[in-house]
Amino acid sequence: MNYQIFNDPFPYVIIENTFDENQLRLIWREIEFLGDKLEGPENYSTKQEDGTYLTTAGALQLDNVYTERCFSDILRITQKVFFDNEQLFKDLLEANEYWKTYCRSNQDVTKIRRYYPGEEYKPHEDCQIHVIISTTFGEDAGGNLYFPKQKCLIETTNNKTVIFPGWIQHSVTKVFKEDRYAITKFVRCNWD
Ligand SMILES: [Fe+2]
Repeated sequence: MNYQIFNDPFPYVIIENTFDENQLRLIWREIEFLGDKLEGPENYSTKQEDGTYLTTAGALQLDNVYTERCFSDILRITQKVFFDNEQLFKDLLEANEYWKTYCRSNQDVTKIRRYYPGEEYKPHEDCQIHVIISTTFGEDAGGNLYFPKQKCLIETTNNKTVIFPGWIQHSVTKVFKEDRYAITKFVRCNWD
């Protein structure tokens, strides 16, 4: 994996080639197994005042599927790559103290989401989430991450991860041709 850490216009990280070939094989195997079990937006999207949802893309929260994380290759592999990574944490803390919210986090949930062509995720903020870690799977145009207030577009390609603060307004632009999948981890510090 190759990562770049940015501070402007807000703290974010881009990781290219996030997972190695074997990890990707296991991740795709699980995505394909769960693909027809994804649930509709009424479970996984915020209903807006006009009755529509921020996204119609189907999703599944893996923490609701497995009682033990070790039975999910996705949960096992993402834990190893994103959390059991001393060098990444060291580099993040050197770049910006903001990343204490990630390096000292103690709670995370993981969702897989599938965008069919034409689907998107409208602008929103996840105010209760400190850090979002989102990896994209599948080759296609569109489905990029867009931060409207900063007018910042980050292209999302296969096996690429973007890490950013959940409370920054963000959206996913329309996917065009092929199905796109995302594995997203919502990270929090819970001091209760
Ligand atoms: Fe979000």
